[in-house]
Amino acid sequence: MDLRIKSYQEYQEKYQKSTEDPEGFWDDIAKQFVWQKPYDKVCEWEFETPDVKWFLNGQLNITENCLDRHLERRGNKLALIWEPNDPKEAFVRYTYRELHDKVCAFANGLKNKGIKKGDRVVIYMPMIPELTIAVLACARIGAVHSVVFAGFSANAMADRINDAQAKMVITADGLNRGTKQVPLKRVVNEALRACESVETVVVYNCINWSPEMIEGRDFWWNDVISGMSTVCPAEPMKSEDMLFILYTSGSTGKPKGVVHTCGGYMVYAAYSFQNVFQYTESDVYWCTADIGWITGHTYIVYGPMLSGATTMMFEGVPTYPDAGRFWQVCDKHGVNLFYTAPTAIRALMGHGDDHVLSYSLDSLKVLGTVGEPINEEAWNWYRVHVGKERCPIVDTWWQTETGGIMISGLGDLSPQKAAHAGYPLPGIQPVLLDQDGKEINENGVEGYLCIKHPWPSILRTTYGDHERCKNTYFSHYEGYYFTGDGAKRDENGMYRIIGRVDDVINVSGHRFGTAEIEDAINHNKMVVESAVVGYPHDVKGQGIYAYIVCENLPKDVELAKGEIIETVVERIGKIAKPEKIQFVSGLPKTRSGKIMRRILRKVAEGEPDKLGDTSTLLDPEVVEEIVEGAL
Ligand code: WTA
Repeated sequence: MDLRIKSYQEYQEKYQKSTEDPEGFWDDIAKQFVWQKPYDKVCEWEFETPDVKWFLNGQLNITENCLDRHLERRGNKLALIWEPNDPKEAFVRYTYRELHDKVCAFANGLKNKGIKKGDRVVIYMPMIPELTIAVLACARIGAVHSVVFAGFSANAMADRINDAQAKMVITADGLNRGTKQVPLKRVVNEALRACESVETVVVYNCINWSPEMIEGRDFWWNDVISGMSTVCPAEPMKSEDMLFILYTSGSTGKPKGVVHTCGGYMVYAAYSFQNVFQYTESDVYWCTADIGWITGHTYIVYGPMLSGATTMMFEGVPTYPDAGRFWQVCDKHGVNLFYTAPTAIRALMGHGDDHVLSYSLDSLKVLGTVGEPINEEAWNWYRVHVGKERCPIVDTWWQTETGGIMISGLGDLSPQKAAHAGYPLPGIQPVLLDQDGKEINENGVEGYLCIKHPWPSILRTTYGDHERCKNTYFSHYEGYYFTGDGAKRDENGMYRIIGRVDDVINVSGHRFGTAEIEDAINHNKMVVESAVVGYPHDVKGQGIYAYIVCENLPKDVELAKGEIIETVVERIGKIAKPEKIQFVSGLPKTRSGKIMRRILRKVAEGEPDKLGDTSTLLDPEVVEEIVEGAL
């Protein structure tokens, strides 16, 4: 299944066809997949309810496309390379045949434990091959997987389990990360005290730790697969049956469960993977993301495996045992296509050039970035030191909700410009809107980034709350999907993503709603009120700055900060720790009681001279105090 566009001219032709005849365009692509029953209509949609359906009345199983279809020609080809945290430990490699057998055996184990089509299964695991196996095994039997990043706390996990009403949790005793070990099963045990829906827990032995196991509820992975057949028929799924739920933060309330369905997600994952990375059959591909995020779903597991590619999973961190680890691993496995985050690039830049200069990196062909805007300095460093000025950089813009890459270069086919994601993929129709929701048609402009026509992997709903999906994405501008991002379009029509225009902070490429962090902080008993904003951070892109009002200003400020951080770690996880905490006696509010975040943002950004109009404030003195005490 070669879905690759092979020249820039072909891109332009395909792009035009995709806007003139979207159904014909996607039909040509979709019919190359394995369908148990062909679809009879390509697309039906309206953005008001919203109601979007792709490949109607078709029937398929994504794992037949990821595994079975490759067995004949690629049975002995490597599907997965796993590189452990500790470079001295042996790596693991599975062929497509081996992976198929492991997925089927585990799928049979899941069925044996009572999991059926439509049941929700939460997966909370280290970056080990069993995570991929668990994801595919769920898809095999039609269970809906919801992977929760293993850095989230027990509370955060419990929220997700309860929202999804999950019947099972798949986890490990613990995980290795650099020099540390984290006891995952302990976190699961704590979370499950608040979850009634979970009947079974499957635990993989990863670090030889003996966690507390509850009789009748908890089972070891090896016992679950023991005696299981490696034959497991792929459950017939309708195109619009749910494939997975992935929780992500928005500007209001708790994280929401973004829902992706089988047919459209499959088609777009493979199409975007092959085109953006200009993937060819012999390539070794490595995406350094965690499968707990959408990038890992689409571009470690599904996109590459649908394409019959060799995909790599890495258990560790970029700086262990030293800041040359990524490059050492690239040389060791002959990685051709490499996909990482700007925050990792900036962190490694900070460790000096020697680490990267000691490796040849000859095998690299295409470099990618994702998750946040990449600054020119990091882009140049990546291009010169990693890509040796030979490899194109694809700066890929997309979101959990879009399921796949939307705006990006296509390998070496497209023109490149530092810090610019570039042009939309075929089938994607971005527009910039002004304040009034009018389309801006010229170039050399800036506006709110929206998408005009659905693409196969657009989110279908937010789990259990369709109204929220409508309000978040389809109500701001009638007839458009609203991304929450602001963007510029240069004179040549290339897009540059500026960042979020809503109350979402992007820390190291991870999204957090300010309301979500404030809610966590407010759980601390000494806190009366808090307001959180993002500020520019050299490595993380954005850092979290929290303004906190306590009943009395704390006597020992450092101690109080420590307690606040502890509360956030407990409620969400270490990844959401505020970098800066300023205790204040009040927050700037309008007369109607609304917090003026614009002011707090300017102070956090170090621009207190640009506060703008403060005359509508209830208590202007608060602002002086905040500016004086700024960190
Ligand atoms: C941001 C990650 C600039 C953006 C795949 C988006 C980017 C949010 C880029 C989605 C990029 C992602 N350039 N900004 N190349 N890629 N973003 O859901 O603000 O974790 O809305 O998906 O990350 O984050 P999410």
